[in-house]
This record gives sequence, structure tokens and C-alpha cells, in this order.
Amino acid sequence: MCGIVGCVLDKPAAPTIIESIKKLEYRGYDSVGIATLTDKINVKKGSGQIKDVDNAIKLTEIDGNIGIAHTRWATHGIPSKENAHPHCDCEDKISVVHNGIIENFEELKKELTEEGHQFKSDTDTEVIPHLIENYMKEGLNLLKAVQKTVKRLKGSYALAIISTDEPDKIIGARNESPLIVGLSENGNFLASDVPAILKETKRVIFLDDEELIELTKDDVKVMDLDLNIKEKTVETITWTADMAEKGGYAHFMLKEIHDEPQIIKDTLSESANIKEIVNKFKKFKRICFVACGTSYHASLIGEYLIETELGIPTEVILASEFEFFKKTLDDHTLVIFITQSGETADTLKALKIAKEKSETLAIVNVVGSTITRKEGAHHVIYTRAGPEIGVAATKTYLSQLICIYLLVAHMAENDELLNKLEDLSEQTEKLLSKEEQIKEISKKYKYASDFFYIGRGFNYPTALEGALKLKEITYIHGEGYAAGELKHGPLALIDNNIPVVGILPPGPSYGKTYSNLQEIKSRGADLIVLGSKNDKNLNGIEDKLLFDNEIDEKMAPLLYIIDLQLLAYYISVAKGIDPDKPRNLAKSVTVQ
Ligand code: G6P
Repeated sequence: MCGIVGCVLDKPAAPTIIESIKKLEYRGYDSVGIATLTDKINVKKGSGQIKDVDNAIKLTEIDGNIGIAHTRWATHGIPSKENAHPHCDCEDKISVVHNGIIENFEELKKELTEEGHQFKSDTDTEVIPHLIENYMKEGLNLLKAVQKTVKRLKGSYALAIISTDEPDKIIGARNESPLIVGLSENGNFLASDVPAILKETKRVIFLDDEELIELTKDDVKVMDLDLNIKEKTVETITWTADMAEKGGYAHFMLKEIHDEPQIIKDTLSESANIKEIVNKFKKFKRICFVACGTSYHASLIGEYLIETELGIPTEVILASEFEFFKKTLDDHTLVIFITQSGETADTLKALKIAKEKSETLAIVNVVGSTITRKEGAHHVIYTRAGPEIGVAATKTYLSQLICIYLLVAHMAENDELLNKLEDLSEQTEKLLSKEEQIKEISKKYKYASDFFYIGRGFNYPTALEGALKLKEITYIHGEGYAAGELKHGPLALIDNNIPVVGILPPGPSYGKTYSNLQEIKSRGADLIVLGSKNDKNLNGIEDKLLFDNEIDEKMAPLLYIIDLQLLAYYISVAKGIDPDKPRNLAKSVTVQ
């Protein structure tokens, strides 16, 4: 959470930095700030989204070819101008932006306050410029002062730091929060993530934990914490700047949903790589998925697939709960981590635990992210979704599912399943055919205060994910339930004020789920049913989203979710909410 950018350019930095930091707003958007270097440090900051703060105080109208910027997701201190980064030392000679959490900030703040340092914010970050100030006053240069400072910090940090005493450079540092270097003709960049620099360069160095960086216009040095120079590989990014633009759509989320037909094709092209990884596997006695949020729902579908196709005992554990289950890990267990960002702190913590005893596999979208690096998983499968900017995951979820289906198909040597996946790719142009109808339906349901989503078997996780999308971007309470479970309690809540979304593809579960929907209808609820065009039983149901493809219940999670994403999107828009930036949420959650 929080995004940082820094750059040293041969031209005024602010316009470029503000464009870059906008690309990181998915990491947090409760306040924003920029600091540049001239003969002094110039700071502009405020609370609110970047466009609003920019309109009010013109963030780009600030001189200096060197600058740092920050977009915040508050952890310590309310969203306010005072708590917005950058933070400075007592004499406004040092300025810092930070992503992460300094766990020992209270003791450091006490010590610094007793020494006479004046604090202006409630943040954990502010101890950093004051510590650097102390070390520079002892006569150390900026790099050495930062080196000494980070050795005193406990917790996670990606830092970019400037000082008037050394006006040609930025010093950066990374530990447990992502940070990359971008190399361009016009100068060099530090950033939390690749989309921030795609317009400027495709040449990137991925930094590792406990590294320090000295960045000038013409040079980049990466060092360990003892200042030994480290040789780093410069990698070329294949994502394009267009991929991180809205491309004419009203929101990133809508664009990303529209990307999905292509994403299915792109991710299916990973089949050969996945087969190669599967060939390296030994025989596992147990499989365990670990993930958070939407990735957790993708994992649940993985559980159903592995249990039914391979008969291997499988479970799904929330990453934040994983440590309670570590005693049963062993070398016959494969632990699969599903994560779009590859940076989720809970997931990375669980990976560390799992690697002690078991073989690990990561299914991840972001190339170069922590889970793909040397401290990451033993095996990596990339989803080919391209950058996802909307906070609510859409296309990355679908690409995770495709990878999971491919993985299981190869593990089970099930050609029929592989062929069904290929068929899906051929039908992709039809996937978004119900958009106008969904838009109409959403107008009717925007006033609802609660929704239920029900599905059975493979489509139970789809119900959970549909409900999560609704909660995230419409602020309507949505609850996903296994269809058969509603009668064991929640049926008491059903009346004519509660819409129920029923997921009813053809297949062995159809009959039972259909009966459950009847039970709901007879208690007055409005039903929105997702099913097959050939289902004559649905004639009396007003709101139905019917699929041309006779796709059975095993494959349905790959298609039906798109309609549920669109339903949440259009309800969000009908309610006047920005679906790309739901309140209180961030896309990449780098705190535990
Ligand atoms: C955050 C995002 C969710 C995402 C979850 C897990 O909560 O808002 O959309 O599903 O993190 O993220 P990951 O990157 O690990 O898939």
C-alpha cells in the first residue's frame, strides 16, 4: 500500500512525477504529496485523490529536476495534509517518501523528541528524516546517513530520500516493500511498481530486500547494507504504456473486464510452460492453496478441481491465518500461492513459513514481484493479464482461473479438459454480449441494501466472488452462500427486499440448485439467475442472464463471473461511486 516515485531528470521533474504517481493510485489514494529540489526543498501536499489535490494546489507547478512523490493508504495517522508524505527533518533540508510500516517508530520518536526534534505528523515515517538529520549532523553524507538510519528501522520500507546538501541525487532503500529502478534516456527513476514508469522506459532493475540505491541522472548504484556494490540485471518489460491506460473506457475496471476475452487467449498460451513445471513435480499426497481476497476465491475453485479431477486431498487457507496450520506441512505437500500482485504481505509471510517444509508454487501476474524473486516460491506460473489498475480484481481473477484449470488438466493428463479450455478461447467474442441488459438490471437493484449470491460446487466460489465484487465497489452488503446451505439459517433473512443471484449452469448440480432457487422465490425474493439459454425452467424469472454457450458447471466459473463483475460495476456507477477507487481499499496490501 502507498505508492512512491522518485526521479532525477534533465528537465523539470514535477509533471513527469505526477503522471507517474497517478499510475500508483491503485496502491492508496487518501492523500498525495511531492517534494522537489532546487536550492531548497519544495513541498506540496494535501489529502484526497491526486486529481482533486492537483486541481486545488497545482502539484505540477513546482520547480526542480529532482523530485519524490507519494500516494497514501493511511496506516498511522488519519488521512490529512499533515500526515501526507513527503515528511521532512527539523530544518526542511531532508525529505522522505515511504511505503511500509516502521514497527519501532514509537521508541525512535520518543528518543528523537527527547533530543529536541519537532514532529509535525502522527506517522511512523517521520522518524526517518529526523534520524537522517542526526547522522548528517555528525558529518556523514546522505548515503551513509540513510545506511545508518535503515539499520535502526524494524519493519518494512521502500524509501526515496532527497537532501539539499546533495542536490544531484536520490537515495533509495528497500526492505519488504516493493521498489524498482527505471533507466531512461532523460534520467532515472525509483518506483513502487512498473506501471509508474512505463511511459518513460521499459528498462527496469528489480530490487531485493536490504538494498540501498544511489540514483543520479546518469548513474544508478545498487548496494547492500554495508555499501558493497551489487551487480544487478537490467530487465526489459513487455507491458506497454497503453496497457495501463483506460483506452477510451469510463473506468479502468470496465476496460479490464473488456480485456478478458483476450486475457483468456493470452493465459492459455502458458499451457506449455505449465506442463513443463508439472513434469518436475513429484507425487504429492496433499495440496494446499494459500491466498487473500479474490485470489482466495480462485483458490477455492482450484480445490474443487483438484479434489474431483485428481483425488488429492486439498485445502485452501487464508494467508493471514496460515501460521496456525504450519505443523501439518511436510515434503509430500505442495503449497500453491495465488496472488495477482506477488507483493501481498500476508501471502509473502505464509510463503516463508511454507518453504521451510514444503515445495511451493506461485501463480502471479506481476513479473519481477517479490514472490517471483529469489526469496520467492520454488516454481512460478505467470498469469498473462497485463497491468490491472482497478482496485477490484477482474481480469487477473480470470487469468488465475485459467492457470489453475491448465495446471490441473496437466497434472491429471486430462486432454478433454484441455480441449474444453481451447473451445472457450474460440467463443470469447460472445463473452460480453449481455452488457446492455446488465446495465438495465443494475438500475433496478442500486437501492438494495443486501444481496445473496448462491451457487453449488464449482460455482459456490463464483457466488463468493460475485458478492465480494459487490461489497468492494457498491458498498452494498453481499453474501455468497453454497446453495444448499441457505436453508440452514440465512433463509430467515429472505424477503422481497433482498435480491438473490442464483448461479445455475447445466450439469449434475442443476436440479438441487434449481430447487433451492424455488425455495427462495416462494419467499418473495427477486431472483437474478445466470444460466443457459436452453433452460426452459427459467421462463417465469424476470431477471436472467443467459449464456449461448452450453457450458457445464465445471467450466462455468470461467464465464459466469464476467457477468457478476459487470453487475457490480454498473451498480457502482449507478450509485455514483468510482469503481476504480473504492473507499478504504488498496490493490496491493503490503501490511499484515
Ligand atoms: C487486496 C485487493 C484485492 C486482492 C487482495 C489479494 O485486498 O484489494 O483485490 O484480491 O488484495 O491480492 P493479491 O495481489 O495477493 O492477489
